[in-house]
Amino acid sequence: MTTDPLLEVSDLSVEFRSHGQTHQILNGISFTVERNEIIGLVGESGSGKSTTARSIIGLLPATGRGFGQITFDRDEIDVGSTKRVRSIRGTQIGFVAQNPFDALNPILSIERQFFNVMRAHEKVSRQQARARAESLLRSVGITDTHRVLAGHAHELSGGMAQRVVIAIALSLDPKLLIADEPTTALDLTVQRQVLDLMRDIILTSGRSMLLVTHDLTVVATYCHRVAVMYRGDILEIGDVETVFTAPKHEYTRALLDSASGKALTADRILSS
Ligand SMILES: Nc1ncnc2c1ncn2[C@@H]1O[C@H](COP(=O)(O)OP(=O)(O)O)[C@@H](O)[C@H]1O
Ligand SMILES: [Mg+2]
Repeated sequence: MTTDPLLEVSDLSVEFRSHGQTHQILNGISFTVERNEIIGLVGESGSGKSTTARSIIGLLPATGRGFGQITFDRDEIDVGSTKRVRSIRGTQIGFVAQNPFDALNPILSIERQFFNVMRAHEKVSRQQARARAESLLRSVGITDTHRVLAGHAHELSGGMAQRVVIAIALSLDPKLLIADEPTTALDLTVQRQVLDLMRDIILTSGRSMLLVTHDLTVVATYCHRVAVMYRGDILEIGDVETVFTAPKHEYTRALLDSASGKALTADRILSS
């Protein structure tokens, strides 16, 4: 274990206000994302995975309030300071959500969307943006870059659209990618392709990924470590092999038992 994590989340709490009541959703969780690692965040629906992901990038809804500290690449930020949290989103932390069509603008060309994202953070000419967009699209396995750039979101399949979203998320060269169920909306075969691609891009470029998923097979195949969430707490965190073969917590054991009885660690690609 290194002592210089890329992201350190300390004592993160989130409350939501509704109908004059306050509900505590995250109960002061702490974890790290190491450099060049893929860490999975698992847990049943409603356990707080998306809230965790969103509070790290300042995307909580207006009714939500975050407390705690995050240290990103040695820079300490108060989670309550939405402005500072948001300033690292996009440039240093890329975000990929479940539905690519929510992330893409329906009326702007794909080329324009690349340009807008790049230009919001740095001075680029149209030509520079286009050249970089083409290379990013190729890196996510899209070969007919001209057609895709000139087109609009609705002309793309779900898998292609999610590749475009990943390429846009990578366009500012973030050190960390946070992906919240990035393939849940895609066909099964496409899920694999997109996850393979994300893993390869992340690991070969020295980046890290926080991969939110409810699918333990995905964790077994793609993650180095895993954090198990339950009702706003992290119950346990550790190497996938260790957590899956010798879970410390009864809840983790139940989660593993319910995961179709498959030998989850049998086809581990990321051994050690
Ligand atoms: N905007 C919101 N307002 C109020 N409660 C919310 C909001 N978003 C999520 N929650 C609640 O927070 C809890 C955790 O939700 P979420 O982080 O989406 O879980 P997960 O991603 O693990 O399914 C749930 O109980 C959910 O109802
Ligand atoms: Mg979620």
